[in-house]
Formats: sequence, C-alpha cells, structure tokens
Amino acid sequence: MHINGKLYQTIWEHPDDESIVQIIDQRNLPHQLIIEELKTTSDFEDAIREMHVRGAPLIGATAAYGIYVACIEASQSTHFEEHLQQAANRLKQTRPTAVDLFNLIDRCLERIASVDTISDKVRTALAEARLICSETIDYCHQIGLNGVSLIEAIYAQTNQPVQILTHCNAGWLATVQYGTATAPIYEAHKRGIPLHVWVDETRPRNQGARLTAFELGQEGIPHTIIADNTGGLLMQKGQVDMVIVGSDRTSRNGDVANKIGTYLKALAAYDNQIPFYVALPESSFDFSMANGVEEIPIEERSADEVRYMQGIDEAGALKKVLISPAGSPAVNYGFDVTPAKYVTRIITERGICTASESGILSLYPEKRSI
Ligand code: MRU
Repeated sequence: MHINGKLYQTIWEHPDDESIVQIIDQRNLPHQLIIEELKTTSDFEDAIREMHVRGAPLIGATAAYGIYVACIEASQSTHFEEHLQQAANRLKQTRPTAVDLFNLIDRCLERIASVDTISDKVRTALAEARLICSETIDYCHQIGLNGVSLIEAIYAQTNQPVQILTHCNAGWLATVQYGTATAPIYEAHKRGIPLHVWVDETRPRNQGARLTAFELGQEGIPHTIIADNTGGLLMQKGQVDMVIVGSDRTSRNGDVANKIGTYLKALAAYDNQIPFYVALPESSFDFSMANGVEEIPIEERSADEVRYMQGIDEAGALKKVLISPAGSPAVNYGFDVTPAKYVTRIITERGICTASESGILSLYPEKRSI
C-alpha cells in the first residue's frame, strides 16, 4: 500500500544484507515514518513486545524472520538446537493472544527440523519466512476478493455509499499488505463502490485513530474517526450498514478474540440487526481450541498505556502526556472475545463461512483431526 505515493510493505529484507530485516516502527505513525532495522533475536522480541510491529499476521511474519535470525545466531554457537529452541521460547513470550505468533513459529521450527545440516537449516528458515510473508499477502488479497461481495450486495440494495464500521487496525499495517478487515474495503474502493468508513479510535493505543485513519487517508478512502463509544449511537441512527473487524485468535467454535472493545461493538450490532463480519487468514485460527470465550489468553499490558496518551505538540514534536490523576490505578486488558453467536460470518482466504465448527471446518477440512 502507499505512503505518500510510495509503495510499502510492513516488513522486508535489507536490500544489501538479507540477514537484516527492516520494519516500519508503527509507534511513531502517523506523525513520523521511521524505518527500523532488526538484527538480533532480542531486536525481534522488543519489536513485537513493544509493538513497533503489531497486528496478528504481522506479529507472525516478524516472528518467522526472528526464527531465521535465531538460526544464524545458533549456527555460531556450539549447541544449535538448544540455542534455537530458547530463542523460539523467548519470542513466544512476547505477546500471548495473537495465535499467529505460535502457529507460525511452530511451522518454522518444524520445517527447520526437517533438514539436516546447519547451513540447510539457516537457508530453510529464510525460505520459510519469505513464504509466510508472500502467503500472508496472497491470503489477505483473497480475503478482499471474497469479502467484497458483501459490500457489493449492500450497495446493490441501497445505492448509497456503504457505511462500514471497523475497530482497531486490521489494515495493511497489521499484516504485510492489504490487511484483513480492510482488504474488502480496498477492493470495493478499487471497483468504484462508494463507501465511507467509521474508524473507532481504539483506546488506549489508538490504533484506529493513528493507523487505520492514516492508511485509509493514504489510499483516498472517505473515513471519519469516532470515539470508541460512538458506534452504538450510529447504529441506532441507521448510519452503519456493516461492521468488519479482524481477529487475533479465532477458536474452532468461531469465538473471536480481537482488540478490546470489539465485543461491545458486536453486541450493539446484534441489537440493531447489523451484520458483524470478522476477516482472518488461516494463521489466526486456533484449530486446537474448542471454546474461545473460556480459553483464549487475554494480554494484559502496562497500565501506563491507559494513563498516558501520545501525540505531537504545536511544534510537531512527539510527546507523551499523563491524562489521569497521577495516583489513580488503571488496568489494561488488550483484547476481548466475541462469542460466535454474535458473528454473522467469517471471511477467510478460502471463502466465507458461518462462525461455527462446522462452518470453519467446511473451509479447512484438513483440520478436522486436530
Ligand atoms: O494490539 P494490536 O494492535 O496488535 O491488536 C491488533 C488487533 O486487534 C487487530 O484487529 C488484529 O490483530 C487483526 S489484524 C489483521
């Protein structure tokens, strides 16, 4: 996608040195475009934990490159396997909810274990990280092609700009390209369907106000940022045709973990008979988990993310300011889980299904035995 007219991915290899991975440090967007170099496994751990990169598919893709760099480091140690396993364990401890992190690290480890020599292991790790990135791009593109029919159907009925509400950033910045929830939106825009996106600001880290609004603006898509609690009112007033969000982990029964506040949007949509869609690629499913509401681990982050806000001052300098009484405690749960019964349909790279075990397995029959 574009930033100031230039095409970007969220992660790529250094053009002169493939052992260095470059990312956009998303903490500074939309005000500053800073490209960061990741050279060691601890750089990768920090980038994921401190959310220089974020969004479930991008966390997974970054971790895959982290495993590749861990292989390079392990090849210089005397105990390759032990070194690699320890690095994988540390990477897995960075963020608990997004299942892509675990799915894709395990996939990389399995591939690496399937070859014998150390140099083959390093080569395989790089090939797998590249494959994961290109697959993620392809899957997100497919999600767009599958999901656009839902937007087209609403436009065919109303002949008015389609009003879409989204929460957090499930855009290209959360993946490698296209995004998940935004992919059908970009596709509809490309096809000339008039639309407008209500962008939830998404406290406390404001991924909606900072990142989704930035992306949509760069692509010329009409949008309006709203305070998180505005969605219910807009739905009652008939100003939302559909909700599309992404997911950090969707269990086998169709329960959906996504950024904190998603559940309340689903409840409001249900009460107002507005379709609530969740878009995700294969890597964001947890096929081994039977019940998401009961089992998905919810990340708890620093309370300071609630107590402080970041922005630029009049001189354009990035500043962090305290917005609450200095002594008031705060708590910061990163995600919530929307029960499957509130999810109208799930949009994947393989098609659209009901949020149920039978619906999901009809698209992924090979996962039946897990
Ligand atoms: O805490 P974040 O910013 O990583 O949370 C991101 C989200 O909740 C996204 O909606 C989700 O990862 C889907 S991304 C395509």
